[in-house]
Amino acid sequence: MDVISVIRTKRDRGELSGEQIDWVIDAYTRGVVADEQMSALAMAILLNGMNRGEIARWTAAMIASGERMDFSSLSRPTADKHSTGGVGDKITLPLAPLVAACGAAVPQLSGRGLGHTGGTLDKLEAIPGWRALLSNEEMLSVLDGVGSVICAAGDGLAPADKKLYALRDVTGTVEAIPLIASSIMSKKIAEGTGSLVLDVKVGTGAFMKTLEDARELASTMVGLGTDHGVRTVALLTDMSTPLGLTAGNALEVRESVEVLAGGGPSDVVELTLALAREMLDAAGLKDVDPAKALADGSAMDVWRRMISAQGGDPDATLPVARETHVVTAPSSGVLTRLDAYDVGVAAWRLGAGRARKEDVVQAGAGVELHAKPGAVVSAGQPLMTLHTDTPERFEYALQAVEGSFDIAPEGTAFSATPIVLDRIA
Ligand code: URA
Repeated sequence: MDVISVIRTKRDRGELSGEQIDWVIDAYTRGVVADEQMSALAMAILLNGMNRGEIARWTAAMIASGERMDFSSLSRPTADKHSTGGVGDKITLPLAPLVAACGAAVPQLSGRGLGHTGGTLDKLEAIPGWRALLSNEEMLSVLDGVGSVICAAGDGLAPADKKLYALRDVTGTVEAIPLIASSIMSKKIAEGTGSLVLDVKVGTGAFMKTLEDARELASTMVGLGTDHGVRTVALLTDMSTPLGLTAGNALEVRESVEVLAGGGPSDVVELTLALAREMLDAAGLKDVDPAKALADGSAMDVWRRMISAQGGDPDATLPVARETHVVTAPSSGVLTRLDAYDVGVAAWRLGAGRARKEDVVQAGAGVELHAKPGAVVSAGQPLMTLHTDTPERFEYALQAVEGSFDIAPEGTAFSATPIVLDRIA
């Protein structure tokens, strides 16, 4: 087999054979196929697509590139959630302990942020002492003892994806449905969860800008999961507006703790509960009400034990950025739009995210929102506060938020977009 013929097949809109796929994934993982050759193939896939058979084989080859975890020793059913990434998407933080408090085991392998979407591990690392890197044995022990664990995927899990994702990130080949679906599902299937709920984001702040693309991605992933014996369901959820009132690491931890304490912004609570119900249902725990576990403090108890088990201090004061800058409403009226992508870019430019893998994020940086679409605002009223340790970043962040909102004359009718747009099973 030679890599040039594999690239040519896809370049010329052909179908890759199973043997070609198995070979190229294995050869790339071993370093026999070079990065520039894999980039050419990834671009050909982005431009010409793959059919469901090719995607299934590609996913299976990525799973086979590494180890598979096994949670069969646990007494509880396992349920996991994966979000395709958004702005202010802190849902994993309250969701994992909540679902554990309701009786499931939640092995939440998470990632770091790159670009305008934040990463769960960066957020949790704002908590002094908290460790994202656990050995497989430690992960299993926290999962067994506490009920939920949020940590980085070990190097042994789908190493082909680890290499390929880093390459796609720097070659403009992330936004390809076959590559996104196989990347996410290879890790989730190798992780060994019994059930999986996918939160597929739609809108300006998401990879998928249209419902049609989001539906295709969701149904591809649900099909892959189901074929591998993982009960998989997808919710399509709105990402045209940031989730909650914060985008940034420590800012989002604070908001998540508010949700666990029974408060927090209504959209974050609504989505957390919707995903919890799906996870519990998929795990066979149909008669449990997650709203009760938020209200009676049992989800908060699991959160505190989970943070402590990973070296963190749940009572520690969270980092606060050294400098703030307030953006005010230029006119009075109804806030009709607040763009998720623009706010995500601003948070990133303030230091909450990274431009390159090796960049260090600022724990306190980000954007705090004071109004969401539908709110009536007065000229001069604070709309958002920008937080950073490095004030020279304000100018660049302000450019991002300049056109991020619309204020219509008072009395203008406003209808909110629902959080959950569709469900695919
Ligand atoms: N998240 C992943 O894990 N992979 C992708 O390709 C995109 C988002």
